[in-house]
Amino acid sequence: MKPDNLKTRIFLDSGNPEETREILELLGFLDGQTTNPSLIAKNPEAQKRLELGDKFSAEEVNDFYKDVIEKIETIIPEGSLSIEVYADKDTLVEDILTQARQMNTWSDNAYIKLPIIQSGLEAAEVLTKEGVRVNMTLCFSQQQAAAVYSATAGARADSVYLSPFVGRLDDKGINGMSLIKNIHNLYKNSDKHVSILSASIRSLDHLLASIAYGADIVTVPGKILRQWAEAGMPVPDESYKYSAELEDIEYEDLDMQSDWKNFNIQHNLTDAGLQKFADDWNSLVK
Ligand code: E4P
Repeated sequence: MKPDNLKTRIFLDSGNPEETREILELLGFLDGQTTNPSLIAKNPEAQKRLELGDKFSAEEVNDFYKDVIEKIETIIPEGSLSIEVYADKDTLVEDILTQARQMNTWSDNAYIKLPIIQSGLEAAEVLTKEGVRVNMTLCFSQQQAAAVYSATAGARADSVYLSPFVGRLDDKGINGMSLIKNIHNLYKNSDKHVSILSASIRSLDHLLASIAYGADIVTVPGKILRQWAEAGMPVPDESYKYSAELEDIEYEDLDMQSDWKNFNIQHNLTDAGLQKFADDWNSLVK
């Protein structure tokens, strides 16, 4: 059962519906699930096909992703479901919009994941006006967080997620949790249309610190949720001591009312992450 004092929503970070079932049983609750092209490529059925040398056609891979989402929805019918568009650096806004509108029909609880690049933000601006909920992914900086807030201004409360990638910053020696803290501070007077979704979680410490730092949502691999369950599902408060020996990111005071085009949305980890998602997806296709 969900601990009474837990305000942060807990999502599973996985492309495997079997894991959704297992984690739901283990925790007794699950608020949602995030998927991405790499996680879909890791799905055991997809892997089995690849081992047999039987790659998907472009249409089949789309149907496969849709089927995965539908299976997850039957297990957590009330749960939020994040579905990611295919995009590389050359993908046009129109293409992102077509995919997003299509994916949005796959589930009543869909949040469409868009990368924080120029075309992704342009698409977010259009889609949120149409009432489509979005999850802005591959966030590595406060400038990107401010741009997302501004590009989606006017959207309903909690209809935009912002996904800062904690673990991938840690991998570079930068304290990913300090980005969560900074964005939480930046958003302190916000109208709450953007919720902070702590992503790229690699340890129980990341999960606990995300809760303690006031993330609205945290998406967590099954392995870490099993550790949390084993520890008795602890819910730390703000006094939680997160102790990574990594370089903190300095806080930047940004004016989120400014036009999103005024922010510097470029980040090398966003570019690398975009490429990796595209490569993993393309590895499935003939
Ligand atoms: C979820 O929304 C993200 O895509 C995911 O947490 C990324 O995790 P990774 O950095 O471990 O690939």
